[in-house]
Amino acid sequence: MTTSRPLLRTKLLQWLLVPLIALLAVDAVVSYFVALRFSQRAYDRSLAEIARELALHVVEREGKVQFDLPEPAQRVLLADPSDRVYFSVTAADGVHLAGDNRLPHAPAARPGAPVFFSALVDARPVRVVELDVPRPGGTEPIATITVAETENKRSGLAREILLSVVMPQLLLIAITGLLVWNGVQRGLAPLDTLKEAIARRSHTDLRPLPEGGVPGEVQPLVRAINDLMHRLDHTLTLQNRFIADAAHQLKTPVAGLRAQLELMLRETDPQRLREALSRQYVGVERLARLVSQLLSLARNEPEALKTVRLQPVDLNALMLETTMDWVPEALKKDIDLGFEGLDRPLVIQGDPTRLRELFDNLLDNAIRYSQRGGRVTVRVRDTARPTVAIHDDGPRIPVEERRRIFERFHRLLGSGADGSGLGLAIAQEIARIHDAEISLADDADGVGNTFSVSFSRTDAT
Ligand SMILES: Nc1ncnc2c1ncn2[C@@H]1O[C@H](COP(=O)(O)OP(=O)(O)OP(=O)(O)O)[C@@H](O)[C@H]1O
Ligand SMILES: [Mg+2]
Repeated sequence: MTTSRPLLRTKLLQWLLVPLIALLAVDAVVSYFVALRFSQRAYDRSLAEIARELALHVVEREGKVQFDLPEPAQRVLLADPSDRVYFSVTAADGVHLAGDNRLPHAPAARPGAPVFFSALVDARPVRVVELDVPRPGGTEPIATITVAETENKRSGLAREILLSVVMPQLLLIAITGLLVWNGVQRGLAPLDTLKEAIARRSHTDLRPLPEGGVPGEVQPLVRAINDLMHRLDHTLTLQNRFIADAAHQLKTPVAGLRAQLELMLRETDPQRLREALSRQYVGVERLARLVSQLLSLARNEPEALKTVRLQPVDLNALMLETTMDWVPEALKKDIDLGFEGLDRPLVIQGDPTRLRELFDNLLDNAIRYSQRGGRVTVRVRDTARPTVAIHDDGPRIPVEERRRIFERFHRLLGSGADGSGLGLAIAQEIARIHDAEISLADDADGVGNTFSVSFSRTDAT
């Protein structure tokens, strides 16, 4: 895991905590205002009580409105441990009767009911209630009582409410964060174990990783890795075996050449030297063939084939040309090399160079393993699938060997001819690129062998 990319646990925490905090913030704001409204109402009610109490002491005597409450009684009524309380009594005609005449009046009075509003007194915020005093037995107001109090209690309570609402929420966020962190940590622990297990491995250890203990979501990943390990192991085994085989095959002719060279160095007779030299030549040719077959096999390895581009190829023309090229070789062994083609092109999708290589190998075998004076025939047919058959009348390949001759380095004992044992393996790989099939069938006449290559049909003309 690289640290440059955001970690899964950070992301999970973000996804969870950001909406949670937003939600809790909205909740806190709403609860704060609701609680504040209820407490404001309670304080307003007790402020109105004071106003009503004061209203009881407004009297009308001989047509004159008076406020009749002794100073000490006023002090008792207005006493408050945390706030300063003001009052004023104003007659209906606007004459100030008692109290503090600096108090503001309601912007819009409502007859009969107390009116509450906020204002400033001595540059300090106050909550004010205004109450009309009706004439006894009537409804028209004779005076107005105004009571105001500073807001210490109220803001103190607001702070308390805020704290009691926000603190539990903060605690909730912290606990949720911890739980999520812990959960993610526990959930991801098997991944860390897996990472450690892979990091500790040696590059040669391709055993499968343990699937137990990992969460269900990760199991497909482990399975995919194990599958890859398995294929790697298989490929490496094949490659190692091939390298060992190739080295072994190269060792024998090289050792032979070296021994002959040593002899030649001691040889003084020009005639014998010449004979040894020509034996050397044959040995070098054999070695060259082996090296070129090895290279050809490497060129046609499945891994190297991703770059191959197939193109329309006239199979009939290609086979005619290939057969013609093998005539000199056939003549050397007095073999009758025949061609039975079509009188029109037979187009398939292919790589001409590789197809040449495939049929060169089959023709080489047919001529090489046939007796002197034999017969080899190449037939091109346009049946269900375009097919090339190469028939020889040489010694028949035993049934039990028919599969194995396609394996690398496998040769039949006593064939009496040189070879590296790679020709058919190369032919097989090339056939695979072309989606073609090589088969070895019993000959109808019961003599020799017929190697057939059948291609898939193509729409190209
Ligand atoms: N037409 C054939 N008739 C008889 N035996 C055959 C024929 N084709 C192949 N074989 C047998 O199958 C073996 C494998 O053939 P393959 O072409 O793979 O290798 P090779 O001919 O020995 O070496 P090279 O790599 O040089 O072709 C041969 O050694 C031979 O014994
Ligand atoms: Mg061969």
